[in-house]
Amino acid sequence: MKKLRILALMHVDLVPPKDVTGFDLTTVSWRTEYDVVETLTALGHQVFPVGVHNDLGVIRDAIETLKPHIAFNLLEEFAGQPTYDQNVVSYLELLGLPYTGCNPRGMMLARDKGWTKKILSFHRIHVPDFLVVPIGRIVKRPKRLTFPLIVKSITEEASLGISQASIVEDDEKLQERVKFIHHSDSVGTSALVERYIEGRELYVGLLGNTRLQILPIWELLLENMPEDAKKIATARVKWSDKYQKKYRIRSQEAKRLSPELQQKIRNIAKRVYRHLALSGYARIDLRLDEKDQNKVFVLEANPNCQLALGEDLADSAERAGLPYKHLLQRILSLGLRFHAERVQR
Ligand SMILES: Nc1ncnc2c1ncn2[C@@H]1O[C@H](COP(=O)(O)OP(=O)(O)O)[C@@H](O)[C@H]1O
Ligand SMILES: [Mg+2]
Repeated sequence: MKKLRILALMHVDLVPPKDVTGFDLTTVSWRTEYDVVETLTALGHQVFPVGVHNDLGVIRDAIETLKPHIAFNLLEEFAGQPTYDQNVVSYLELLGLPYTGCNPRGMMLARDKGWTKKILSFHRIHVPDFLVVPIGRIVKRPKRLTFPLIVKSITEEASLGISQASIVEDDEKLQERVKFIHHSDSVGTSALVERYIEGRELYVGLLGNTRLQILPIWELLLENMPEDAKKIATARVKWSDKYQKKYRIRSQEAKRLSPELQQKIRNIAKRVYRHLALSGYARIDLRLDEKDQNKVFVLEANPNCQLALGEDLADSAERAGLPYKHLLQRILSLGLRFHAERVQR
């Protein structure tokens, strides 16, 4: 492939230092940024990391002076606002610069878990029955929505605000937890109340714009968690190395799925991707309902999902014969192609 000038857009606090001696590169907060920049550089591209907080001028200046072919988008927020991530991509579109990952329309639909579920329900894809409680409203639980329920943020990711207390068994605890999502400093968004699906947790990575490659089905293994704990991906499960080691929490290619069920899951993942207008790469989170003949429920879609080396997308790509550097190269090609096709239209 042609060697490219790449603007690597990342949060200003996550720009990797020039000299990384003395850092444990498996645990630093800028792991993804480091993996991407290093790998793209090793592929022969010229990579320019640009730290962004709340100033679009930084991006505009970098484009004017560096004349990049493409932006590699690692931003997950703008000015501390996760819901503004799509606006930065819109800005790149307006400036005519190709970018990696998802387009702003797809990002917007997937960002709001309520909208995601409304769209998927229309297409008859199973999602847990749910209720949205905007900030300032109290919960009026409809009779059909029976306990146990899980309460989460409508827009936050990375299991922010998700702990064992997120699963509630009665109306009092439900009100309490909704209040927490509405008013805690760490979350502070509208709340989503969902039927709690007990069962296996699966992830499916996809790559593509129009033609899609579906990566092998991945599973988060939570079976060694304490007896009394609900088996869900809380913030601690996702981010604490110590906790993961203690309870042997890991993910791997999903075993013991019949070929029919695998086909069904792949098909659902593909339909979710298309119905939400995603592009580039994404990971779809699903659950198998062990109480209902392993019916497949979609929890959410994650455009521009976690891209660090050793995380689920990279691991499942590797399993599909796409090592990390080829994965990143593919993501670049998809970004360039998406732009070229857009311009032609
Ligand atoms: N309806 C549900 N039933 C069972 N577990 C759920 C449900 N919704 C969320 N979870 C658990 O909480 C985790 C985080 O929820 P998710 O909707 O994927 O939000 P995030 O964007 O933070 O990843 C999931 O990976 C899953 O373990
Ligand atoms: Mg998730």
